[in-house]
Amino acid sequence: MTTKTALITGTSRAGGIGFAVAHQLAEQGYHVILTARDVSRAEPLAAQLRHDGYPATALRLDLTDASSLTEATEHLTRSFGHLDVLINNASDVVDFTALSALEADIDAVRSALDIDVLGPWQLVQTMLPVLTAAPAARIVNVSSVSALQIAAGLDLRASLRAPAHSFAKHVLNVLTEVLARALKDTPILVNSVDPGDTATHPERGDEADARPASESARGIVWAATLPHDGPTGGFFRDGVPLT
Ligand SMILES: NC(=O)c1ccc[n+]([C@@H]2O[C@H](COP(=O)([O-])OP(=O)(O)OC[C@H]3O[C@@H](n4cnc5c(N)ncnc54)[C@H](OP(=O)(O)O)[C@@H]3O)[C@@H](O)[C@H]2O)c1
Repeated sequence: MTTKTALITGTSRAGGIGFAVAHQLAEQGYHVILTARDVSRAEPLAAQLRHDGYPATALRLDLTDASSLTEATEHLTRSFGHLDVLINNASDVVDFTALSALEADIDAVRSALDIDVLGPWQLVQTMLPVLTAAPAARIVNVSSVSALQIAAGLDLRASLRAPAHSFAKHVLNVLTEVLARALKDTPILVNSVDPGDTATHPERGDEADARPASESARGIVWAATLPHDGPTGGFFRDGVPLT
């Protein structure tokens, strides 16, 4: 039987959403490929999964370094020949202290666009041969409800919380729609998912009502394992459309 494969970006932290997604996909029988810009941080997490009896590999993947995207794709081609699930989970540090577009640090905007939008875009392009080699690949772009501050046309003169992050996630949702349209004649489905407020960074002060990463991961895994007639080009939280 062909091995089902899933690659997750930004899997450098045991408490992060990426590792929770990797764990749940491994439980569903996927060979999970945990990636981080510093592979020595993904390797112990892959080793932990292997120790628990799941097939897992760690690879270096830095979204700002195109050669690492090519090397990861070459590894997938050699080892499996296909990729069933791509989770674009990695994200730049959030500019929480800025509260309006007028306050946004343009270097932070540039960096957020690089890591949250252009990196995933280039990754999809680079991995297209292995994605199309799978029977029906799924691409999940991990976004944020903060994108809706822009999409919903709120009065942005009043405030725009975390402008670099929110703007990049809004553009990521647009990328999801554009890729879904470009892939409409293939079995590949592409969706954005908001994981919800999640307690992944207690050292930075998570929201009081933030939920555990394992709970937030479920909606991402749902989008990663959609049936053939599932939605594409949408934005969801816990399987429910967000608009
Ligand atoms: N936590 C929440 O409440 C929440 C809410 C809404 C949306 N989200 C989204 O959920 C996703 C996961 O968030 P999280 O809270 O689990 O945070 P996290 O663990 O900090 O995940 C971010 C990951 O992105 C990686 N990364 C940063 N720059 C990179 C680059 N150039 N190339 C490759 N990887 C890079 C980080 O690696 P390093 O460790 O090397 O920096 C880290 O592994 C993100 O897309 C986030 O925007 C989270």
